[in-house]
Amino acid sequence: MTFDPSPFAARRTRLAEYIRNAGGGIALIPSAPERTRNRDSDHPYRHDSYFYYLTGFTEPESTLVLIATDSETRAVLFCRAKHEEREIWDGFRFGPAAACERLGCNEAFANEELAERLPALLGNQSALWYSLGHDTAWDARIMEALNAVRASVRNGVAAPADIRDVRGPLDEMRIFKDKSEIATMRRAAEISSGAHRRAMRACRPGMMEYEIEAELLHEFRRHGSQHPAYTSIVAGGANACVLHYVGNDQPLKDGELLLIDAGCELDSYAADITRTFPVNGRFEGAARDVYALVLASQKAAINECRISRNFNSPHDVAVQILAQGMLDLKLLTGSLDEVIETASYKRFYMHRTSHWLGLDVHDAGEYKRMGRWRDLEPGMVLTIEPGCYIRPADDVPEAFWNIGVRIEDDVLITAVSPDVLTSATPKCIKDIEACMAEGRA
Ligand code: GLY
Ligand code: MN
Ligand code: MN
Repeated sequence: MTFDPSPFAARRTRLAEYIRNAGGGIALIPSAPERTRNRDSDHPYRHDSYFYYLTGFTEPESTLVLIATDSETRAVLFCRAKHEEREIWDGFRFGPAAACERLGCNEAFANEELAERLPALLGNQSALWYSLGHDTAWDARIMEALNAVRASVRNGVAAPADIRDVRGPLDEMRIFKDKSEIATMRRAAEISSGAHRRAMRACRPGMMEYEIEAELLHEFRRHGSQHPAYTSIVAGGANACVLHYVGNDQPLKDGELLLIDAGCELDSYAADITRTFPVNGRFEGAARDVYALVLASQKAAINECRISRNFNSPHDVAVQILAQGMLDLKLLTGSLDEVIETASYKRFYMHRTSHWLGLDVHDAGEYKRMGRWRDLEPGMVLTIEPGCYIRPADDVPEAFWNIGVRIEDDVLITAVSPDVLTSATPKCIKDIEACMAEGRA
């Protein structure tokens, strides 16, 4: 697909407008550093999400400088110089001239020029917009550059009086997905749904959790996903009650459930899906009851994903239904009001129902404003992921021990009704059983 720089340029324009309205200044947004894994091997590189959001550029060692004053808006890129030998070893680099043209920046320079140019860029700007404290190496470079500006005060050059967090305006922009972001997220969701269907078809008693993980990764990668969006959780039986289980190295047993929380990253955007299904393909007994309860709470929570509701509405509804179900199943005693007031349901449902989703799996953006949960608005994407996790205990009927269920979908808020991006992932009991039966036919 050809690269379209226009959504990225439009975001730079919006950020520049924000900075200008706040008195003008200069923003500096570096990409992520490369990380050594051991000796001369690196971890797979993942660019910084803010940097990507404003450029679409994925080369390491890149930095965006955005100047927004009354007299000008200027986007300046610093990136790797062309380098014949390094390109033989590590691959193609655009270099400043081609990168500038591709991204639609005003100017681009090789990184070797950054230290020298930075003081001049910072000089006489009223504010520096930067994410201070995020990367200590960058903090030190910035301090050095600011001190270099201060050293030339007798030449009539002043250092920015304010350092402001550029993540403030960017987080607010990132909450509302534009058309190109929604298209990418829809595709990431489709690929991830296909991976969950593949896992359902492949699953058999006696397989290892990692064999199912391999099915997921195969499906992600063969559709062009660059990485999983987070480490996949493939948790059989009691492992499903460990919320962040990633060992994925145990056998899958007949009569137990398998919880899979896995989503791919596609072109920098995450999907985040959880499904729970029986290893042997048939929902039975207590596991079926708990599954039906979590499913009812999840469907009701999705129905709250509307513009008349706020971020906490899905959670409130999920908790009401789960708490009543825990009473009905005799996991808890007391009245519904007591269970909710004392939060005794948290013994079995200890996490929240939603988070923003986008470039990061737990995406940027505020959840509350002035102490109030923010209203849901078109363009927001959030997960809906209630669960129920039951550890063995004397006061819990044994039939429920070690049952862990979570069901998670990704939902786009629209002006009309919830748009479930992950709706191609089976979740009703009969749909899951039918999908699993396909793999056994
Ligand atoms: N997969 C991470 C989460 O569900 O929040
Ligand atoms: Mn999630
Ligand atoms: Mn998840």
